[in-house]
Amino acid sequence: MSSSDDLPQGEEKAAIVEQMFDQIAPRYDLVNRLMTFRMDVGWRRHTVRSLGLPTGSTVLDLACGTGDFCNDLLRYKHEPIGMDFSAGMLGAANTDAPLVRADALCLPVADNQVDGVTCGFALRNFTNLPDFFEEIARVLRPGGRIGLLDVSEPSNSLLRAGHNIYFGKVVPKIGALLSDSGAYRYLPKSVEYLPSTEELLAGLTRVGFADGSRTELSGGITQLFLGTLEP
Ligand SMILES: C[S@@+](CC[C@H](N)C(=O)[O-])C[C@H]1O[C@@H](n2cnc3c(N)ncnc32)[C@H](O)[C@@H]1O
Repeated sequence: MSSSDDLPQGEEKAAIVEQMFDQIAPRYDLVNRLMTFRMDVGWRRHTVRSLGLPTGSTVLDLACGTGDFCNDLLRYKHEPIGMDFSAGMLGAANTDAPLVRADALCLPVADNQVDGVTCGFALRNFTNLPDFFEEIARVLRPGGRIGLLDVSEPSNSLLRAGHNIYFGKVVPKIGALLSDSGAYRYLPKSVEYLPSTEELLAGLTRVGFADGSRTELSGGITQLFLGTLEP
């Protein structure tokens, strides 16, 4: 994972991230909808459809936050279980899906139990992505599917310049106005935690997602990783 001098690592990072989400939980959904112009709703639904799982599938939504992914999984007639380590986010959740307070890097789930795993906008918040990939491969049944969303930078230089201004300058102002300035200053910086596409796909292949793929959504401001656990 790439690092930056002013970005925390390891246990310090986990504690800061947990505390930050506890803090911003009450207005998390509002700020999310505003700063993405509601595109986040479409990205999650696209992910659920892309899993291609039969109805009634058991899907773990990891780092579920306030339960948006769980609601989309319910909409498509799956059986989601949401897990997050922030008590604040779970407390602010609005979903009928069962929610569990748990660390995504150490899941309270037996091996080969679930049909799918989703994860929205949390990869860059984890302290150890190889451990996360191993965990999802462990709890999935062979043939199980993953759909992992996170932010990204458009590859087109013009789009990237516009996006950098919006994400780097406008989003922190919206966040400061409506929620917490520190948290929304951290948001654009946290992208530096994300490894390259090649590293991420290699990490997925290493744990058994040989068909792992990456798709850019909305011009490349968001990326979706899909994969199937080898039978
Ligand atoms: C940007 S929010 C995304 C929430 C939700 N998935 C969504 O799509 O809106 C990131 C979430 O990751 C959670 N998180 C970060 N690290 C975690 C970990 N190690 N275990 C469980 N949850 C974690 C945070 O508490 C927060 O709720």
